[in-house]
Amino acid sequence: MRDSSFLRTLNGEVSAIPPIWFMRQAGRYLPEYRQLRAEAGSFMELCFNPDLASEVTLQPIRRFDLDAAILFADILLIPHALGQNLSFAEGEGPVLKPKLTPEILKGFRDQNILETLAPIFETVRKTRVGLGADKALIGFAGAPWTVATYMLNGGSSPDPAALRERYYSEQPFISDLIETLAEHTIDYLVAQIDAGADAVQLFDTWASGLPWPVLDAVSVRPMDKIAVGVKKVRPGTPVIMFPKGVGEKATEYATLSSCDAIGIDYAMDPAWARQHLSPHAVVQGGLDPLLMIQGGERMKKSAATFLKLFHDVPYIFNLGHGFTPQTPPEHVLELVDFVHREGQD
Ligand code: CP3
Repeated sequence: MRDSSFLRTLNGEVSAIPPIWFMRQAGRYLPEYRQLRAEAGSFMELCFNPDLASEVTLQPIRRFDLDAAILFADILLIPHALGQNLSFAEGEGPVLKPKLTPEILKGFRDQNILETLAPIFETVRKTRVGLGADKALIGFAGAPWTVATYMLNGGSSPDPAALRERYYSEQPFISDLIETLAEHTIDYLVAQIDAGADAVQLFDTWASGLPWPVLDAVSVRPMDKIAVGVKKVRPGTPVIMFPKGVGEKATEYATLSSCDAIGIDYAMDPAWARQHLSPHAVVQGGLDPLLMIQGGERMKKSAATFLKLFHDVPYIFNLGHGFTPQTPPEHVLELVDFVHREGQD
């Protein structure tokens, strides 16, 4: 295995200075990203251009000396490769066309998405070449429920109540969709690993607010299925699960034998996570990304809380969700320096 502090931590090692990376660490808050994004023309052209996408992946590593890079791509590339055309309207978020129907879904099951997504694996290869041996490369995919919400809605942020209601009234269709996505996601992640990803993360941004046992059916089980499926063919690959907003149900993920690490969101009490999640999985993240906008003492005080609580267990420093575009890059540098210095004391 590559000798990186990020991978050692995922393997259960405790270190004085935790490895550090950030969700959305490449993106609009960085001027060098905005420049390449303008050069590419659109977000989609950027994602499918391995030269530019690998450069964007490496930008935050150069600027902040982080321990892991995350592939620059998007969770909605799977629906795009399946045949729902993805575009990003300025200021409106993602648009997927056509909206998904049971008839369209039938054609998705046996689709080969890996050919369309070949440029993404090329980005992984190129990034790996440009990355120091001590840095890890994280591959990722959306968890089936979150990807399904966008597919059913035709893009944009889903209305959680409307989707929950659809789950109850159209359960066979939605279960079939989740199942189809889980199968394709295994292939997609394995291809990322074969191209050079050292670990993979599953994002379930819209897991929040689902009652049990719906959460179990649409999020916990499918994530477990994907992690087990990936490990079956590429044993030893660490899997990080980020089920956002699930509260105490995070234990249901952390206790899965397929779950190596669990990402905690900004609303979770870190002391609760230390007590209930750390015995089962490596904990990652938690810091409120909005603290990054002001930076300074309040941000550092919160960072210190995480460092103190998790000092005696394996812990990966990160946010409780991605950076917002308003984040001043200087505050990121201030935070990274703080974590590096505090950890040493
Ligand atoms: O740096 C990284 O974290 C890696 C790349 C990455 C992106 N999106 C790049 C991106 C990752 C891991 C994602 C995940 C993603 N994409 C999620 C799950 C995590 C989360 O943030 O909740 C979701 C729900 C999406 C879907 C998506 N893609 C949305 C809602 C948006 C925002 C649309 C908008 O205009 O605000 C995107 C676009 C996107 N994905 C951007 C980036 C850097 C911004 C696009 C741009 O440059 O215009």
